[in-house]
Amino acid sequence: MRARKIADGIHWVGVIDPDRRLFEEITPLPDGTSYNSYLVRGKDKTVLIDTVEPEFKSILFERIDDAGGKDIDYIVSNHAEQDHSGSLPAALERFPRAKVLCTPKGRNMLLDLLPLDPERIETVEDGQTLDLGGRTLEFIHAPWVHWPETMFTYLREEGILFSCDLFGSHLATNDLFVTDRCRLLESAKRYYAEVMMPFSGPVRRNMEKIQDRTINIIAPSHGPLHDDPGFILDTYRDWAGEEPKNLVVVPYVSMHGSTKSMVTRFIESLVCRGVRVEFFNLAETDTGRLSMALVDAATVAFGSPNILNGMHPKVVYAAYLVNALRPKARFVSMIGSYGWGAKMEDQLHGLLKGLNIEMLDTVLTRGAPSEQDFTSLDFLAQTIADRHAAVCADWKKS
Ligand code: FEO
Repeated sequence: MRARKIADGIHWVGVIDPDRRLFEEITPLPDGTSYNSYLVRGKDKTVLIDTVEPEFKSILFERIDDAGGKDIDYIVSNHAEQDHSGSLPAALERFPRAKVLCTPKGRNMLLDLLPLDPERIETVEDGQTLDLGGRTLEFIHAPWVHWPETMFTYLREEGILFSCDLFGSHLATNDLFVTDRCRLLESAKRYYAEVMMPFSGPVRRNMEKIQDRTINIIAPSHGPLHDDPGFILDTYRDWAGEEPKNLVVVPYVSMHGSTKSMVTRFIESLVCRGVRVEFFNLAETDTGRLSMALVDAATVAFGSPNILNGMHPKVVYAAYLVNALRPKARFVSMIGSYGWGAKMEDQLHGLLKGLNIEMLDTVLTRGAPSEQDFTSLDFLAQTIADRHAAVCADWKKS
């Protein structure tokens, strides 16, 4: 296994994992992923930045050998999650003089998660530098992207930002740098939606923190490196920004067709009023695609039949996900059908109580929808169009 050269003395020594299909046993990975690790050599010291999933440690070590990294002085742990820290115990055994560098919170987390000798873990302060001999690493604390202990490592002379999970993508590619922006955008947006969206505030704050630095390359811990960093930085400013787009996301389930006919009328009514719609039949959808749509949406409108005295369990899961992902959506509603009992509205409000979101009227009907129900759906669509006109910058442009 060969190291991939980024610049003289700077190599990618990570692992491509095309077969992985789930992350954290919940996040779909249709394009696999990679665990990026980097070897940086100065005249005096050699540093490894992050490791890989422990099952791939032998590949990491082969690539380090190929890059000539016989004597590693420091291993920087930008993030304690095990896909980057899991090979630290083996790496410390293989490189006996190496010390781990991380944030103070990172030290506690690493000791909680892994069998590590506390004597071999040193903490770095925000802004602290490390002279490698002709090369300088600066450690930039970047909490909550996406754990509390995260940090960036910035190589000043070359302007390389090792950003760990931020700006990453679950994309197994042999391209060291981004070559296909469309493919990258798809994977990066999925990644942002599932990992970073709940922390859009910290994403914005940490991006402001690095905005005055010269950044020539962003080297994340998953997916290809960005040698045109302005592209991903601008894209992230849009995704993490507070202003939603003129888009309604409709996650729905229909058991016998009544809810589906309401969803169909509702979508038609929204589109006729100039509102974009993305809809997801939860009986078969990839929740990653739902999460991606939530990045931009101004409104989420759930469609559910009543079953077991409440919303359909797949809609309950979608509502739980929306609450957890904390999208920038401003409005929420529900449409659907029931046979007897209708506690779905209260249930939805309870599931979304973590969001600062305006609950619009619901349209729930007993059995098959009537013309009066369709008129109510038209009225709801008009309400949404009016709200979007007030809050969406792209209103009438999309
Ligand atoms: Fe790629 Fe948060 O680990």
